[in-house]
Amino acid sequence: MSQLIILGMQWGDEGKGKIVDLLTDFSDVVIRYQGGANAGHTLVVDGQKIVLHAIPSGILHSNVTCVIANGVVIDPELLIGELDNIESKNISVNSNNLKISYNAHIILPYHKLMDKYREEKASKKIGTTQKGIGPAYEDKAARRGIRFIDFIDKEKFDEMLLRNLEYYNFMFKNYFAKQELEYNKLVNDFDIYREKLKGFACDTVSFLYNETTKKRSMLFEGAQGTLLDIDCGTYPYVTSSNTTSGGAITGSSIGLRKDTSVLGIMKAYTTRVGEGPFPTELNNEIGLKIREEGFEYGSTTGRARRIGWLDMVALKYAIKVNGITSIALTKLDTLSILDEINICTNYIFNGEKTTNFINNNSILENITCEYQTYSGWKVPINNIRSFEDLPLNAKKYIETIETMLETPIDIISVGPDRKETILKNNPFI
Ligand code: GDP
Ligand code: IMO
Ligand code: MG
Repeated sequence: MSQLIILGMQWGDEGKGKIVDLLTDFSDVVIRYQGGANAGHTLVVDGQKIVLHAIPSGILHSNVTCVIANGVVIDPELLIGELDNIESKNISVNSNNLKISYNAHIILPYHKLMDKYREEKASKKIGTTQKGIGPAYEDKAARRGIRFIDFIDKEKFDEMLLRNLEYYNFMFKNYFAKQELEYNKLVNDFDIYREKLKGFACDTVSFLYNETTKKRSMLFEGAQGTLLDIDCGTYPYVTSSNTTSGGAITGSSIGLRKDTSVLGIMKAYTTRVGEGPFPTELNNEIGLKIREEGFEYGSTTGRARRIGWLDMVALKYAIKVNGITSIALTKLDTLSILDEINICTNYIFNGEKTTNFINNNSILENITCEYQTYSGWKVPINNIRSFEDLPLNAKKYIETIETMLETPIDIISVGPDRKETILKNNPFI
């Protein structure tokens, strides 16, 4: 048995979905443990693309159980849409291959409206996905949240909804000067969602524990990225969950085990969606070229992603806070268009060099970056399947990253498709 946590090392969209799908071949169970429909994980198999938001990226494989664990916040309406989309591609989803934790919290329409109205009113916007993620986690922490187990119990749900709606409608009317939500409409909508989803409800704590006793391999699929973590990220420009490796433990209610590895996913450059500091950001022609070549537009909101060079200071920080044991490097092919590639090796703050990522925006917004420049390779690499066959300068770039981060790169992704991958080492074994 082994356990592998897969998570993003940057600000999300590192290609986690692709790598999870690929490594599901070696796994019995795939678990989403935090976040919700703010995530957009893209899978491409034989040219066919599918974007998943709450459903684990292992769902395309038969004989694998996918679990939406307690740390996730679930939007029933969006989840049903996602299920319909998957089933339209002739993939059967049922209570054998998808299990939803009793303890996962539910996102209601008032969470999404609260997210939207706050962003509209704020002078300093976060740039959220407006999927209601922050308000749903707030309700969880405030101990008024509605869990999946409450949602499938009609009487309990209706009662909790009435209580919560009183608070949200007060806020909508008096603070935001917006329309109130209608209780009966919500009751009716959620009656329909309940019928469609109740069959997936599961005591996932017992299920996962039993799987560990049967020595099953487990893959934990992180959403977002390290720098969006509510504790370790560039607060307040973060999401509202723990995206770092600790989140896999609390978000799935499974104990820490000694045979757990952590695979960090990083792009060969950096992107960020939404507001907040971004030391290596490229506000120039090169940034635009990379965005177009890498098709850097959000999988959930369609927003253009901000582009920057690799940032070793931030990546070393990601290694530290997650205990990363090996790396998957994605989108190396996107850099094939460049003559030269920069890597930020350190920051300069107040005239002093530093390699320490200080999680403080007033520092991050006022540092300058020092770069080392590497020659590009300028040939397509999408069809290459072994490290040895890569152009010399691409190999040098990979080896430089490994040396700087003192961590092995196990996987190199050279295109969006499952097969466009170089598996140097299997992190699962
Ligand atoms: P995630 O949120 O971490 O799963 O990443 P997203 O799916 O939001 O964004 C990654 C995007 O890059 C998707 O469009 C993927 O299909 C694509 N992608 C993943 N790996 C590669 C790669 O190696 N090369 C290229 N060109 N695209 C990739
Ligand atoms: P995946 O899993 C990239 C960003 C938003 C915003 C901040 C807070 O696809 O990598 P939220 O809606 O979570 O309250 O927004 O977090 N964000 C992401 N950026 N990829 C994601 O997920 C993201 N999920 C949230 O853009 O800056
Ligand atoms: Mg994404």
